[in-house]
Amino acid sequence: MDSIRSSKQSKSLIISAVLAITGTNMVLADGWDPNSKASNTDSIVNTRHNMTMSYLGGASVNMDSARNDYAEVCVYCHTPHGANSTIGAPLWNRTNPGTSYTVYNKPLTSGQTASAPGVNSLICLSCHDGTVAIDSIINMPNRPGSKSYDPTQQTAQNDAFLSSWPDNSPIMHAKLSDCLLCHTSTNPFAPDFTAFLIGTDLRDDHPVGVSLPDTTIYDFNPTTGTAGNLSFYDTNSNGRADSNELRFYNSGQGYEVECASCHNPHGTPVNSAPVNGKHGGPLIPSFLRVKDQSTLCLTCHNK
Ligand code: HEC
Ligand code: HEC
Ligand code: HEC
Ligand code: HEC
Ligand code: HEC
Repeated sequence: MDSIRSSKQSKSLIISAVLAITGTNMVLADGWDPNSKASNTDSIVNTRHNMTMSYLGGASVNMDSARNDYAEVCVYCHTPHGANSTIGAPLWNRTNPGTSYTVYNKPLTSGQTASAPGVNSLICLSCHDGTVAIDSIINMPNRPGSKSYDPTQQTAQNDAFLSSWPDNSPIMHAKLSDCLLCHTSTNPFAPDFTAFLIGTDLRDDHPVGVSLPDTTIYDFNPTTGTAGNLSFYDTNSNGRADSNELRFYNSGQGYEVECASCHNPHGTPVNSAPVNGKHGGPLIPSFLRVKDQSTLCLTCHNK
């Protein structure tokens, strides 16, 4: 086992050493990376949010030294049973270590101050802040000889448990920051992921944990629907928060902007109406809920 590990390790170190000295790589543009092998159509399966990377075919083994391949798409985020009870996110399977963040600190027009990121941001940050392994889940799929459930995973990453996954024992349970070992701007063989690493300092990002200010005083549009913990722009007036409708989340401090206000982690189809009776087709770039970026901003801001 150790020799397999070290041969894997030296192989990937050689690969990254070779890559570090070769040419430049494309810088991330707005929208989907045109060189991505993910087609970004129909469903999350064909996007970079599929952590099995099955759309790479055989080349998904490039990632086997970095994360467990659970061979299931949803399990990296959700579990049908034994979900994380420390966070109010749907059937959440990921570790929630209670990380603290540096919040947006410039004066806001309304005078409010940003609060700590709410649940519907923490779920994204559980990968994008680079502090938790991509494969750090509570409930692994059942496999003979494996221990599939570890409740301590709810709040802390247990590498020994994760390494009991039998198919392959990765040399590291890589955090997004570790994925940058290969996914750098200088590696011509692996796309640059630097821009995707948000980190724990949110001062340079659109504020989250802020509420919609009084729309009769400030330049904001009032929402037109509420349902459960959501207040949203009900553009088709059907009373439901559809995936292409921007929303504010109430996780106990009133309705606030969170990452998922603007982004849908599963991808929202460009065509909101079904085509040939079927939902799907191309997805809006960058997992955004609304196609055009100025439409996105102007849904909430009235400028
Ligand atoms: C107000 C809307 C809004 C909110 C809130 C928001 N984003 Fe974004 N995000 C965008 C837009 C628009 C883009 C596309 C930017 C571009 O293409 O230049 C984007 C791009 C990204 C990208 C791609 C990398 C990049 O910089 O282009 C990541 C990753 C991301 N967002 C994650 C997050 C996370 C995590 C949060 C919560 C902490 C968040 N976003 C909150 C609107 C938002
Ligand atoms: C040992 C180097 C290495 C490491 C470490 C690594 N990758 Fe990769 N990754 C690659 C290579 C090489 C490719 C390109 C494969 C191809 O195009 O067929 C790739 C491709 C990808 C792709 C598909 C890109 C696209 O859109 O076509 C994703 C997503 C990805 N890696 C995610 C990750 C994540 C997440 C991690 C950390 C858990 C990671 N990688 C760690 C080498 C690596
Ligand atoms: C990369 C992480 C990730 C993966 C993988 C993922 N989801 Fe989700 N899912 C989320 C997040 C985050 C939310 C909460 C969205 C929000 O805050 O509104 C969610 C919410 C949901 C919900 C409830 C709310 C809704 O949007 O309908 C369902 C149902 C769901 N996911 C199903 C799935 C299924 C089925 C799969 C696999 C095909 C899957 N998800 C894969 C992150 C993920
Ligand atoms: C299970 C880990 C995981 C979770 C949870 C997760 N992401 Fe990602 N996300 C990734 C990985 C891996 C990539 C692709 C490689 C990279 O960014 O390093 C990615 C890519 C993205 C991109 C760029 C997509 C592209 O191809 O241009 C955006 C935008 C994004 N995520 C936003 C979010 C938001 C918003 C949430 C929460 C609603 C979220 N992610 C939750 C792991 C995750
Ligand atoms: C989901 C609703 C929503 C969307 C979409 C949105 N914003 Fe915001 N934005 C807010 C809220 C709420 C605040 C806090 C405003 C306050 O308290 O004064 C804010 C604050 C800001 C601020 C800080 C300055 C200020 O007004 O105090 C800027 C700049 C900003 N947004 C730009 C953008 C841009 C650019 C986009 C499009 C990429 C965007 N916003 C999309 C809701 C949104």
